[in-house]
Amino acid sequence: MSLTVTILGAAAGGGLPQWNCGCPNCQRARAGEIPPATQSSIAVTAANGQWAVVNASPDIRGQLERTPALYPSGPRRSPIGAVLVTNGDLDHVAGLLTLREKQPFRLFATPEIHAILDANPVFEALDRGLVERHAVGLDTPFDLLPGLQATLYAVPGKVPLFLEGETVATDQEGEATVGVRLAADGRVAHYVPGCARLSDRLTAELEDAHMLLFDGTLWHDNEMIAAGLGHKTGRRMGHMPITGPGGSLHAFDEIGPAKRVYVHMNNTNPILDPTSPEHAQAQAAGWTVGADGMVLTV
Ligand code: MLT
Ligand code: MN
Ligand code: ZN
Repeated sequence: MSLTVTILGAAAGGGLPQWNCGCPNCQRARAGEIPPATQSSIAVTAANGQWAVVNASPDIRGQLERTPALYPSGPRRSPIGAVLVTNGDLDHVAGLLTLREKQPFRLFATPEIHAILDANPVFEALDRGLVERHAVGLDTPFDLLPGLQATLYAVPGKVPLFLEGETVATDQEGEATVGVRLAADGRVAHYVPGCARLSDRLTAELEDAHMLLFDGTLWHDNEMIAAGLGHKTGRRMGHMPITGPGGSLHAFDEIGPAKRVYVHMNNTNPILDPTSPEHAQAQAAGWTVGADGMVLTV
């Protein structure tokens, strides 16, 4: 047995290109000069025919259609047995609405994230008679699928953008933003698409990891401000940057794991251009830059 992760969407919210964005990356993606990328999601399997989707992005319909391993094997017989969401952001939950259509699966999240879904009646489109909502506590291993264990743990983050009040704590450790430890047959991968800073907890978590898929939202903390696209830093959005003080580029050098992959990249991030010096710099530092359709086995 092995643990296989397929990147369904390597981009952050908005995707590449983003519908209303004319930044250089978005324009080049439209022109076919760099690969497009859909919004943040992975699929994971312990190689027994069943898959779990971790984060349900607004692009999930197209993501499933271009991934033959996730095709139904018969009428209403999907290999997707479970869906897990790591926070309540729209890029991670809006795709749940596409997963209606009377399909049984189990939906996992922390109690706080479930409370956000429970409070919004539009998610009742997922028939509770078929889609069991399982609230899982932090640090409590559970079977995501038979033979595939998951554990959710707090990583520094914030509440979803649509629930932000006048002031917002951007690096709270609680149930709002979690990392996921995925384990099958002694193989361990961690998926952390949003993380505001490297915490002691995350450092300790990664000790036995063979692979890490990590928050690659921005190259520079002020990248969106510099591009004239917004007034928020990466940290304000709950994402530690790749470079600059406290950046992720070398943060895991002493920690392992052997394989490190950037995911959840914003469309302004220069590493989304495979020919960019920044892409080369990330690779030289030991990172793989995630891409839609990438299959990673540990
Ligand atoms: C984020 O990752 O910062 C969020 O997806 C932002 C958003 O919800 O638009
Ligand atoms: Mn996001
Ligand atoms: Zn753009």
